[in-house]
Amino acid sequence: MRKKLGSYIGEYKINTILAPAFMLGEVAMDVLIPYLMSFLINNGLQKGNFDYVLRVGGLMLIMTVLGLTFGSLSGVHAAIASTGLAKNLRKAMFFTIQRFSFENIDRFSSSSLITRLTTDVNNVQNSFQMMIRMLVRAPLMMIFALIMSFVLNARLACIFLVTIPIMAMVMAFVIFRAHKYFKQMFEEYDHLNNDVQENLLNIRTVKAYVREPHEIKKFEAISEKLVHLSKAAEKLIILPTPVMTMLVFGIIIADGLLGGRFIVAGQMKLGDLTTLFTYAVQVMMSFMMITMVLVMIVMSVASGERIVEVLNEEPTITNKEKAITEVKDGSIVFDHVDFAYGSDKDKKVLTDIQLTIEAGETVGIIGGTGSSKSTLVQLIPRLYDVTAGRVLVGGTDVRDLDIHTLRDNVSMVLQKNELFSGTIMKNMRWGDEHATDEEVIKACKLAQADEFVSTFDKQYETYIEQGGNNVSGGQKQRLCIARALLKKPKILILDDSTSAVDMRTDALIREAFANEIPNTTKIIIAQRISSVQDADKIVVLDEGRIVGVGKHDALYANNRIYREVYDSQMKGGDDDAA
Ligand SMILES: Nc1ncnc2c1ncn2[C@@H]1O[C@H](COP(=O)(O)OP(=O)(O)OP(=O)(O)O)[C@@H](O)[C@H]1O
Ligand SMILES: [Mg+2]
Repeated sequence: MRKKLGSYIGEYKINTILAPAFMLGEVAMDVLIPYLMSFLINNGLQKGNFDYVLRVGGLMLIMTVLGLTFGSLSGVHAAIASTGLAKNLRKAMFFTIQRFSFENIDRFSSSSLITRLTTDVNNVQNSFQMMIRMLVRAPLMMIFALIMSFVLNARLACIFLVTIPIMAMVMAFVIFRAHKYFKQMFEEYDHLNNDVQENLLNIRTVKAYVREPHEIKKFEAISEKLVHLSKAAEKLIILPTPVMTMLVFGIIIADGLLGGRFIVAGQMKLGDLTTLFTYAVQVMMSFMMITMVLVMIVMSVASGERIVEVLNEEPTITNKEKAITEVKDGSIVFDHVDFAYGSDKDKKVLTDIQLTIEAGETVGIIGGTGSSKSTLVQLIPRLYDVTAGRVLVGGTDVRDLDIHTLRDNVSMVLQKNELFSGTIMKNMRWGDEHATDEEVIKACKLAQADEFVSTFDKQYETYIEQGGNNVSGGQKQRLCIARALLKKPKILILDDSTSAVDMRTDALIREAFANEIPNTTKIIIAQRISSVQDADKIVVLDEGRIVGVGKHDALYANNRIYREVYDSQMKGGDDDAA
């Protein structure tokens, strides 16, 4: 995982090297300054040599400024390197996700992908920044401070050695326990993110069902859990501080007692003892820092794994080498097709589908909810791949066709269709970015959208809010149909795309299709039989199997399911009219 993440440092390698290099300078200054202090006390202050004090003091001042400069430079480079890494990771993840098939997206869920792109990348960024600074600073400082202590007075420095195993044990305990808490904490963060996202995206539904108190309670419960876990984790993290303080004071007392004797006996100078005290603090501080950084790394390992999972995910639908870049015509053949979602290939939602559709035909698909109507048509533009059998478009297996070519020729209005924030004109040009204004207006006329767009003050420059919330359901559907038409596809698929459109407009759209795009193969999934009654062919689906194909009259005469649906709707239709 580290290798994989490390490869995304990319163009920020220099910064990644410079940050610890400058840190080396800062540590050198930090360690040398107390050393000079011992000279200042021993040879200057104690001997009353004011000149010497000024000279050494001046040198110490210069070193302080240098230390500050090195420290800042290290900080700047670490910041550049870590934000750079985060940028590269986000970019790579976003690119990978864009290549995902519907199946890949099903596997992760959109909200988890969002958490991975944001929170997880932030965690890795923070811990990387800490790592390249502190993982260099702390051990170096500890080693230098220890060496200098031995140079000053080996016997007193030995006392440090006693404290090291105690600190190491405390550290190991903290890191081991912290891992557990942080893992739980991130899982809760995931829940919180999911909940907030779901709530905000569906705030209208929440309000319509007066679910605010319930949602608030749910949010509070997760927040409480997070507070609880954070408190436990924080308590653990601050544990080394009192232990360290105790040890530092222990060293100072022991060194003070022993050192005092050495000084009285003339074996040691006063300045050396005060400097030793400073080194004692530095050694313990370094230990603390190492603990903190290791805790951060532990925290970010989980995030790193989640990022690598996305980066390593292979798109399940890719282009073959030498893919065919031409779709001959709008004919479609389903040849003994089986399909199952996910890895369980036995849970078939489509079974042995056999269907031939000629170019230019209009085909209606009827069937109860969950009868796999949407699943069936999603195989045509290869949004999913078949589990068994094959789907041919224009006589070629869709898996041999170039995906762009295929999807340019097969235009599909998805059941859960969305508009994006931007003007109507911009939204329409998703279908064809080079379309002229006239072409856009023509497509909108065909989809019966022009009539309401022209009543808007700004007409085609009207701004569509995120998710198309400022147009009605039926208006949104008509705009989505117009957008699909702009592709001038050989095959047009409407998945329940006129469900919110009134019957008269629905009929007008079908009439326009018949007159204006007679050569386009049209597949219309509908709940209302009236939407497909005039089709060349109607396919009746039941539990993932085709149970009838034919024209309206023949089906009505011979197919029980079709007849029942038709009769029940006619009754409903009468009620509507009344
Ligand atoms: N992304 C998915 N992952 C797993 N199972 C799915 C997925 N989409 C649909 N299914 C399942 O496949 C079956 C067929 O669903 P499909 O959406 O094709 O039905 P439909 O006929 O279009 O229904 P509706 O009329 O409600 O749109 C259902 O049992 C559904 O639970
Ligand atoms: Mg459906």
